[in-house]
Amino acid sequence: MSLAHSLQRKRALVRALHRGRRRTLALVAPLDDDAVHRQHVPIMSPLAWDLGHVANYEELWLLRALGHGGLAEPGLDRVYNPFENPRWVRGDLPALPRTEAMGYLAEVRAEALGLLRATELDPGRPLVADGFVYQLVVQHEAMHQETMLQALGLRADTLRHPLASWRGLGPGGRRVDDRDRVLVAGGPFTMGTHDRSRAFDNERPAHTTELAGFALDRYPVTARRYAAFVADGGYDRPEVWSQRGWDWRDEHAHRTPQGWLPDGDGGWLVRRFGHVAPLDPREPVQHVSYFEAEAFAAWAGGRLPTEAEWEKAAAWDPAAGRARTWPWGQRPPSPATANLGRRRWGPAPVGSFPAGASAYGAEQLVGDCYEWTSSGFEPYPGYATFPYPEYSEVFLGGDYRVLRGASWASDAAVSRATFRNWDHPYRRQLFAGIRLAWDRPGREGR
Ligand code: AVJ
Ligand code: FE
Repeated sequence: MSLAHSLQRKRALVRALHRGRRRTLALVAPLDDDAVHRQHVPIMSPLAWDLGHVANYEELWLLRALGHGGLAEPGLDRVYNPFENPRWVRGDLPALPRTEAMGYLAEVRAEALGLLRATELDPGRPLVADGFVYQLVVQHEAMHQETMLQALGLRADTLRHPLASWRGLGPGGRRVDDRDRVLVAGGPFTMGTHDRSRAFDNERPAHTTELAGFALDRYPVTARRYAAFVADGGYDRPEVWSQRGWDWRDEHAHRTPQGWLPDGDGGWLVRRFGHVAPLDPREPVQHVSYFEAEAFAAWAGGRLPTEAEWEKAAAWDPAAGRARTWPWGQRPPSPATANLGRRRWGPAPVGSFPAGASAYGAEQLVGDCYEWTSSGFEPYPGYATFPYPEYSEVFLGGDYRVLRGASWASDAAVSRATFRNWDHPYRRQLFAGIRLAWDRPGREGR
């Protein structure tokens, strides 16, 4: 690599680091200390823990893993180790208060930028080749922004985020049939990637997968469709629920997606980050668990796609015989192709992103909401852990379902057609919704 090229590469990494940090600070700056320090719910960390953990992760990967001695007291490694401290104990940890966590973030960053200047991005050294470890840290911070938003979303009743203003921001306009479907012809496609710069170990290696043909909803399932399921007594029909799903439903009072409130007139309002507004029937439903997604699918007469089906519909270009990085092609996301990065604090109405369509014509696959698939989180053939087992390996084969795509809260840095997210099937704090697959073409089902 020439010196000029190497400098250019480093400058792009520095920009990505700065941009991510700016967005972390913008997210928490408007919140008062109580909102940052309190553990809102046992399944999510206090935001101050996320902040310290983001700094600690950067210290581990951009300082110590690259030969720097590090800077914090070693005690912090334990406080911010997610495996030593499951989420429900994080409210009681001696985590740094907000101001100190900010200081820790800034100190680590200053050292990391200094070290980057002195570090050769040696192509023979997998950790730094193509900027990998820097992309890892950028993506980690971006994912924790989304985690913090999930925590805030769970107590949206009293905590108002001043930046949350999804009302009236939809590109809107285009009226579409929210039950429209696309056809994905059977045959092989290339799943996963060989990319070693941004992709996580669980997205590798690229491999050929053979699928039967299927139809897929052109759009994510809308609030309108989900409200019809609710109105039809979907939550009280054991025949559309799996046994585990029914047991989950018995244990919880949930009879709508998280955040829905009856408007007193047979319709719905939705509450997000302390703001209440009429629910737009054209917007993708979010905040449902896998169990709810599965029950909705059975009620509608369809099913959830496997993650292979999802990825083929999203990324495969049958004419070119190769996979695209994003559904629409190789250009990074723009406001015309995807709803990402908290530009809008909620999903956008279906039909808002015709320029974001995949080769098969499906829209809003990346952005708006993650989508539950029927697949467990399993390694691809030839999977190799890199750079550490606690990112993917320890979760593989566990009680998780894979989610695909990206949400309105996801940063572009973690959005791509091969990205795999996962969570327990009973969780619904994620900005996750539904898209149905169908085994027969045609229009039966709802
Ligand atoms: C890939 C989103 C499931 O939040 O548990 C954050 C990302 N890994 N810190 C998670 C992650 C380490 C991870 N997910
Ligand atoms: Fe983390």
